[in-house]
Amino acid sequence: MRYSIGNALLVCLSINFGSGLTARVRVRQDAVTVTQTVTSSTPEPTPFNWASGATEQYPIHSSCNATERALLSKGLGDAIKLADHAKQHVLRFGNSSDFYVKYFGTAPTAEVIGWYDRIVSADRGGIWFRCDDIDGNCQIDGYAGHWRGENATQETVICPLSYTTRMPLEGLCGYGYSVAASKLNVYFGSDLIHRLYHLPAIGEGIVEHYADTYDECLELAKNNPAEAYFALDVYAFDIAVPGEGCTGKVPKTESSATDQPTATSAPNTSSTSAAPTECHTHADGTEHCV
Ligand SMILES: *[C@@H]1O[C@H](CO)[C@@H](O)[C@H](O)[C@H]1NC(C)=O
Ligand SMILES: *[C@@H]1O[C@H](CO)[C@@H](O)[C@H](O)[C@H]1NC(C)=O
Ligand SMILES: *[C@@H]1O[C@H](CO)[C@@H](O)[C@H](O)[C@H]1NC(C)=O
Ligand SMILES: *[C@@H]1O[C@H](CO)[C@@H](O)[C@H](O)[C@H]1NC(C)=O
Repeated sequence: MRYSIGNALLVCLSINFGSGLTARVRVRQDAVTVTQTVTSSTPEPTPFNWASGATEQYPIHSSCNATERALLSKGLGDAIKLADHAKQHVLRFGNSSDFYVKYFGTAPTAEVIGWYDRIVSADRGGIWFRCDDIDGNCQIDGYAGHWRGENATQETVICPLSYTTRMPLEGLCGYGYSVAASKLNVYFGSDLIHRLYHLPAIGEGIVEHYADTYDECLELAKNNPAEAYFALDVYAFDIAVPGEGCTGKVPKTESSATDQPTATSAPNTSSTSAAPTECHTHADGTEHCV
């Protein structure tokens, strides 16, 4: 007898029915031998891994000690959380979000979503966050970190000052913070979003054209990505202090006077034109490219 079940061919070699009949009880002893005919013995090939060699976590250099590594991991996690929520907000509301229009004007949402997704999901190969002050800039008063620029375009140094001053995302809207009046680098997460876009592996040499203050950021909204501010604003409104947030207001006095020239000199710069950039590092450790 042959039974074909799926691909397996079962051959029943012998079926013996015992015939021991007793007075009342009939005992049938069936002996069934089943042999599976194996036609091929080649082992299953290991499945093709299309993503082989991927770098999924932001690489933290061995120069970072355990504390620095833990705080930096937390900060990078905050950056991903901010970017991911910003992406979700845009996917949900598109340009019907007042926040969206405020920061990105009429820009197609797919571009904005894409820039956030690069923070969340792009391969991190070649990137390094290091703590060894290899360029000596951490010695400069007030430096909390810097992009290594021409010395290593995919590398960022995070100086000791960052670990004692940058706040966790859980504190968003706390400490007297407001999006409009406070610096991008109050929170480690938004500070690192800013830094990540400097890296070609994430910003592709485009998003690094970054506005430094909230004021500038809004002036340049049409052409210059404002990812970090938008992400803070919507995370604050949607998550941290639901339905309220902490957008705040730009303080009238100081910020506009000094930043105006930069803001008005660049409004026609397209975010996609690879305009030559000149970068300088601010005393607070943030870089600004114009
Ligand atoms: C908003 O997006 C829609 C497409 O979803 C588009 O037709 C409309 O022009 C956009 N409005 C603005 C102000 O960008
Ligand atoms: C690059 O290295 C040189 C020499 O060590 C240093 O002077 C310079 O500041 C470094 N550049 C940056 C952006 O750190
Ligand atoms: C780790 O580095 C920080 C500076 O960022 C320093 O304050 C701390 O003492 C270091 N920890 C150890 C165990 O060396
Ligand atoms: C910027 O745009 C305005 C109006 O669109 C135009 O008049 C001006 O010449 C432009 N400036 C530059 C530097 O391209």
